[in-house]
Amino acid sequence: MYILAFESSCDETSAAVLEMDVGKRIIRANLVASQIAVHRLYGGVVPEIASRAHIEAITALTRDALTEANCGLADIGAVGVTASPGLIGALLVGVNFAKSLGYANNIPLVPVNHIRAHVAAALLAHPDLEPPFLALVVSGGHTTLYAVDDYVTYRLLGGTRDDAAGEAFDKIGRVIGLPYPGGAAMDKLAAFGNPGAVKLPSPALPGENLDFSFSGLKTAALNYLNAEAQRGNPIAAAPDNLAPGRAADLAAAYTDTIVRAIVKKTGHALRQTGLRTLVLAGGVAANSHLRAGLAALCAKRGARLCMPPLALCGDNAAMVGAQAYYEYCAGVRADTSLNASACD
Ligand code: KG4
Ligand code: ZN
Repeated sequence: MYILAFESSCDETSAAVLEMDVGKRIIRANLVASQIAVHRLYGGVVPEIASRAHIEAITALTRDALTEANCGLADIGAVGVTASPGLIGALLVGVNFAKSLGYANNIPLVPVNHIRAHVAAALLAHPDLEPPFLALVVSGGHTTLYAVDDYVTYRLLGGTRDDAAGEAFDKIGRVIGLPYPGGAAMDKLAAFGNPGAVKLPSPALPGENLDFSFSGLKTAALNYLNAEAQRGNPIAAAPDNLAPGRAADLAAAYTDTIVRAIVKKTGHALRQTGLRTLVLAGGVAANSHLRAGLAALCAKRGARLCMPPLALCGDNAAMVGAQAYYEYCAGVRADTSLNASACD
């Protein structure tokens, strides 16, 4: 069946058309209109601007996605839309658009959780991947481990008690002068640095639990930057010329501390659950150091590692459409009373 899907939870508007069936997971179109250039002016996402930009983009994106997929609304078997979690005003644009489109054309409407959608990106990238598996979702808002028992049954195993890893990357990236969102630039800069140059506290909480706290790490890095500035040695990166130096050393140490913590807790989770497949998902799944750290962990444990390609790590509607298909198969439907929710 053909699924038309929408994503508008944060700063990317996206519309996609998928062809999904038993043994079939095909992306026919996946168009993303990024708002990064607009929000970069402010150093972070401005929710009101995000909502308005979604409204401006979504109609044309939908038309273009249908054209690219070479189909019309009459071919669509279900409309999927991210309904939670995210920025409420941004979510409401996609939800209301999908509701109206479904109602006017008599197409079933399927609400999708954004976190599950990130995990579903790995299903698109690995056609033979099936639950059960362990899912690690690392994004701007989440650092969470789930046992995925079947396509629509997620058991929360642990996660961050405060900030998410993506947020932690963005914050320090901004302070050392990297453009928003700092995550991707921190990734590149870290490759030039010495991870042993700065000692930072681990965000892995002590013990066998599967929880993290990134606020202490963020504060320690900020204190280090402030102390260096007060000594007359401010640390700043040259965004257009990433090179070795103290900014690269901090980026490397910071990244290494985050990656080690995530690898450690993921190792605990693999052992505790006995699961033999790990899915890495979310925007931070694009991080080369995290991908390498988890690849090493899985090689050591004899576990299979499934990661979406970089194009499917960030927010996009194809992942929403994939999850919408499985929710649809499980009987999930919404009517015109569907509301968006900022929380999980
Ligand atoms: O999943 P996502 O697109 O949006 C949310 O659902 O939050 O994740 C966005 C986050 C941002 O914090 C961004 O800086 C981070 O993913 N990110 C990265 C990389 N690429 C994107 N963080 C570290 N390394 C990267 N290569
Ligand atoms: Zn996301």
